Amino acid sequence: MLADKDRIFTNLYGRDDWRLAGAQRRGDWDGTKELILKGRDWIVEQIKESGLRGRGGAGFPTGLKWSFMPKESDRPTYLCVNADESEPGTCKDRDILRNDPHKLIEGCLLASAGMGVHTCYIYIRGEFYNEAKRLQAAIDESYDAGLIGEDACGSGWDFELYLHRGAGAYICGEETGLLESLEGRKGQPRLKPPFPAQVGLYGCPTTVNNVETIAVVPTILRRGAAWFAAIGRPRNTGTKIYCLSGHVNTPCNVEEAMSISLRELIERHGGGVRGGWDNLLGVIPGGSSVPVIPKSICETVLMDFDSLVAVQSGLGTAAVIVMDKSTDIVKAIARLSKFYKHESCGQCTPCREGAGWVWRVMERMVEGNASVAEIDMLLDVSHEIEGHTICALADGAMWPVQGLIRHFRPEMEKRIAEYRQAAARQRQAA
Ligand SMILES: Cc1cc2nc3c(=O)[nH]c(=O)nc-3n(C[C@H](O)[C@H](O)[C@H](O)COP(=O)(O)O)c2cc1C
Repeated sequence: MLADKDRIFTNLYGRDDWRLAGAQRRGDWDGTKELILKGRDWIVEQIKESGLRGRGGAGFPTGLKWSFMPKESDRPTYLCVNADESEPGTCKDRDILRNDPHKLIEGCLLASAGMGVHTCYIYIRGEFYNEAKRLQAAIDESYDAGLIGEDACGSGWDFELYLHRGAGAYICGEETGLLESLEGRKGQPRLKPPFPAQVGLYGCPTTVNNVETIAVVPTILRRGAAWFAAIGRPRNTGTKIYCLSGHVNTPCNVEEAMSISLRELIERHGGGVRGGWDNLLGVIPGGSSVPVIPKSICETVLMDFDSLVAVQSGLGTAAVIVMDKSTDIVKAIARLSKFYKHESCGQCTPCREGAGWVWRVMERMVEGNASVAEIDMLLDVSHEIEGHTICALADGAMWPVQGLIRHFRPEMEKRIAEYRQAAARQRQAA
């Protein structure tokens, strides 16, 4: 369990003042100038040593990503902060934006100094209207206090920060879709390579990082890489905001240690599964894109990147969607298929055509109006779609279906058998 002294997001629930005065009381903006003056290499080394891995879903090592930015550049370079947060089940960045915006702003400055960047954009999802207003107010007061802008914090580092509102498309959270949208075009992902660190925003070297990734940076630099690395376990370090939703008694966002067990997380912070642990059916542990895991796996799995990959799921955004035995699991996954079909940008044929096809088959699976052979076909097709598109939206659309078949195939077969029996009875009666 995370000790209170190790908590980074001390105003996650908004009980204290989110403004500059409150943030400074909680320790933000303390010694920022000195941290910048330690230099670019020191900042990147600290982040590498801390073991911080991106909190946006893929878990890429943050320090390594920063080191891809050119040391010298005759073009501008950019940091883009991904505040698009649209993954179903996920609402952690929202609470940082609402209640701890100064952690993010200070993080933007320090991360930019670490990468030699003078201009940063925060791309916020359109639906976060109130959060955008609050974040803009926090940005304004940071400018007024000389914390950002020319000679930020008196460090000699010039730093401009802009907030850009999206218009409500899940695909604009994909980093290159985000860059397209920021440039004023349709949010359709770009082919990689080239990667954003070479050719990013306006064709210039760019790093894209998640809100939580950037917001933990000031505390890591202040308290030291070793402190962060000591929380969790190797390769899976630090604190993490988990979003607990679904059939728990007390849904919440909570900052906990990386590698806490799923069961402890649910019982300690979610108030337990509705109706008790034995009433658990399964959990989607990392936002809607990752495969569901059944109760048997939930008993022992740890909430971190490596443990969840080992059970063929993923930490993703750490949005834990708990489903008790009252859940129609086939219907739940079919609903997710509909979401991905709706959000596909239509650029790649396997995703544009496949996501809709999968959804339609899944709708029939809900009723049982299918054949057992179609379960195998669904699985085959999902593997053909996975990995064959420009971005990972299609992978995220296929993984829930693959997880369903892996763990709940008997339920799908039972429905098909029942549907056939009912149809046979109807024919006999006619
Ligand atoms: C369809 C799709 C949607 C995504 N949405 C988000 C999002 O809303 N926020 C986010 O931080 N990352 C999102 N990502 C991941 C980003 O592409 C990128 O990996 C991330 O912003 C990198 O930040 P990190 O290294 O700090 O994790 C999405 C990826 C895909 C494929």
